[in-house]
Amino acid sequence: MTTSALRVSELTKDFGGLRAVDGISFHVDEGEFVGLIGPNGCGKTTTFNCISGMLELTSGRIEVLGQDATGMRPDQIQSLGLTRTFQHTRLWRQMTVIENLLVPPRHQFAPNFLLSLLRPGSRNAEKKRLSDAYSLLDMLEVSHMAHNLASELSGGQSKLVDIGRTLMGSPRVLLLDEPVAGVAGPLAERIFQNLRALTSERNIGMLVIEHNMNFILRTGVDRVIVVDSGHVLMEGTPDEVRQNESVIEAYLGE
Ligand SMILES: Nc1ncnc2c1ncn2[C@@H]1O[C@H](COP(=O)(O)OP(=O)(O)O)[C@@H](O)[C@H]1O
Ligand SMILES: [Mg+2]
Repeated sequence: MTTSALRVSELTKDFGGLRAVDGISFHVDEGEFVGLIGPNGCGKTTTFNCISGMLELTSGRIEVLGQDATGMRPDQIQSLGLTRTFQHTRLWRQMTVIENLLVPPRHQFAPNFLLSLLRPGSRNAEKKRLSDAYSLLDMLEVSHMAHNLASELSGGQSKLVDIGRTLMGSPRVLLLDEPVAGVAGPLAERIFQNLRALTSERNIGMLVIEHNMNFILRTGVDRVIVVDSGHVLMEGTPDEVRQNESVIEAYLGE
């Protein structure tokens, strides 16, 4: 049996008397592009917060690349190779876009980060980082903003830069929370095509929250996990989801 990039088993999260996540189970394989979809308030972001260690689980188990990550701190989970974005982006507003990509993510300041800059070969490494950063901005179609301050970006552009920043850390498991919310339709589709390609090229386990069912079904995801009231309503390929009666009832208004 191959190891999954991410495996969530019977995850439950209560906020006082409210059960936000109710025994959710699913997995994402390496190189697999999976959509997590469901109505507002059904527990998608809470699931991400539990997986990334920002919230304590009420019960359940999280495995990242075959390692038990249940109860770990966010920085420990990040060092296993898992990175996530937030529904509301967190950029350094007073830095330029390219600088935002070059700053190591908060949890990745290795103790020897400054020393590493003095090592022979570090100049080449820095050049490589810079060219990676520009290629990511190109892919996300925001390279024309590279030297603008992050505070000058529109909401949609901030989302794209945030995705770029996340990819700079070479994640092996990547969780994106509504990455194209506020991004115009045709660009959103191109971004998803690029994410699809990147998932395969870099063998990332990619899990993307999206609230628009019709959109996710035509973006080329491998699988869709449909969540309703904190549990998995169904999961399957886009075709299987399209034909599922309970999903049709809940979403497509039949
Ligand atoms: N920190 C929190 N404290 C209390 N309730 C919360 C908290 N975070 C989320 N909730 C509640 O949990 C439920 C699921 O929220 P959320 O996971 O954000 O949904 P989604 O991302 O699917 O829209 C909602 O009813 C929400 O109000
Ligand atoms: Mg949410």
